[in-house]
Amino acid sequence: MTTGVSAHTADQERTAGRERTAGRERTAGRERTADRLLRATAARSYDPDLDIDWSAPLAQGKGFILERRCSLYGTALWERLSPEQRLELGKHEAASVASTGLWLESVLLRMLANVVYQGDPASRHVQYALAEMADECRHSTMFARMIERIGAPVYGPSPVIRKLGQWLPAMARGPAMWGTILIGEELTDRYQREQMGDESIQPLMRMVNRIHVMEEARHIGFARAELTRSLAAMSRAELPYHRLLLARTGFIVSRSLVSPEVYRSVGLDPGQAKRAALANPYHRETIRFGGEKIMPFLADAGLVGAPAMRLWRRSFLVA
Ligand SMILES: [Fe+2]
Ligand SMILES: [Fe+2]
Repeated sequence: MTTGVSAHTADQERTAGRERTAGRERTAGRERTADRLLRATAARSYDPDLDIDWSAPLAQGKGFILERRCSLYGTALWERLSPEQRLELGKHEAASVASTGLWLESVLLRMLANVVYQGDPASRHVQYALAEMADECRHSTMFARMIERIGAPVYGPSPVIRKLGQWLPAMARGPAMWGTILIGEELTDRYQREQMGDESIQPLMRMVNRIHVMEEARHIGFARAELTRSLAAMSRAELPYHRLLLARTGFIVSRSLVSPEVYRSVGLDPGQAKRAALANPYHRETIRFGGEKIMPFLADAGLVGAPAMRLWRRSFLVA
């Protein structure tokens, strides 16, 4: 009997020892990642105030997004628009995507502020979170200036979604938090990469996209590494919560990219045009293309699954 109890205690100690070692390894790995990213930040960062010529005139006839990425491309409504109206709608859709980016960055800033608040300021991990906050502050100013420069309004998500977003930094922890960050960053990254080298796009838009792509590469690396580490520390019982929260944010982000209000810019009814966009196979393909890199990563991590598959399919991020 006594032998059984001591064997049990020895087992518990061994398990606790293994968990301590795994925890130490996670911390060491996290510090290595942050150290590498801090060096990359020091080596290459942009100041959009100085690196973009904001006074340069817009290029006549050049687009603000690729035509085939316009939400109405290929629909009957699209066929009725003149070339000038198509350009105008593209401008407003570009402003809408940037407005959603601005909103997501303000949510992300609060999530990163939580990381800083709860962490050790002497760690590379917290220092990198601060560096990323500085990047995002510059990005948000850059997007706001870009929207202003091209002469479009700041759209952003609906008031209900904005309200929900206020709660997100408190609700999303660990894998759901890093997954939310990645959905926001990687969807826009796919569109920006595609446009930054395309000669048919306005030089201002290409420069904004290029700066964002360069700096987001670090952010995506950080969030992917953090998601993997936080998954290792999560219990199985928490998985459905993380899956549901992530699918909900994926749905919200995919639906918020194009505000229905953009359609007013070319005299279309927002409700009718939004329905046409949601039924448009080209638009659905654009959303799927946005998730092409991040969705397999989230699926491999086990974060895409029951009870959230219906939401994922409705978002068009999963076929
Ligand atoms: Fe950003
Ligand atoms: Fe970012």
